[in-house]
Amino acid sequence: MTVICGPPIMIRFTLPVFFDLGFSKENIITSLEMRMKCGIGKCGRCNVGSKYVCKDGPVFSLAELDKLTKSINLPLSLRR
Ligand code: FES
Repeated sequence: MTVICGPPIMIRFTLPVFFDLGFSKENIITSLEMRMKCGIGKCGRCNVGSKYVCKDGPVFSLAELDKLTKSINLPLSLRR
């Protein structure tokens, strides 16, 4: 298992390295705290699909994010 935390651009360029090393999406963990504003589930700014980052996260596996983002387009594409 590996954890990626940092600016979206860093995550974007780090993911291919982890895939090349053989990590599966279930074993790559990242945090989306940068999407949060109020942090208490009131503003609705942090939702990703049906989840609120502030209440359901902020840590998700890449496999979870893949399912959540199928219907939306995050600025940072975490799909491969
Ligand atoms: S940060 Fe406001 S609802 Fe999640």
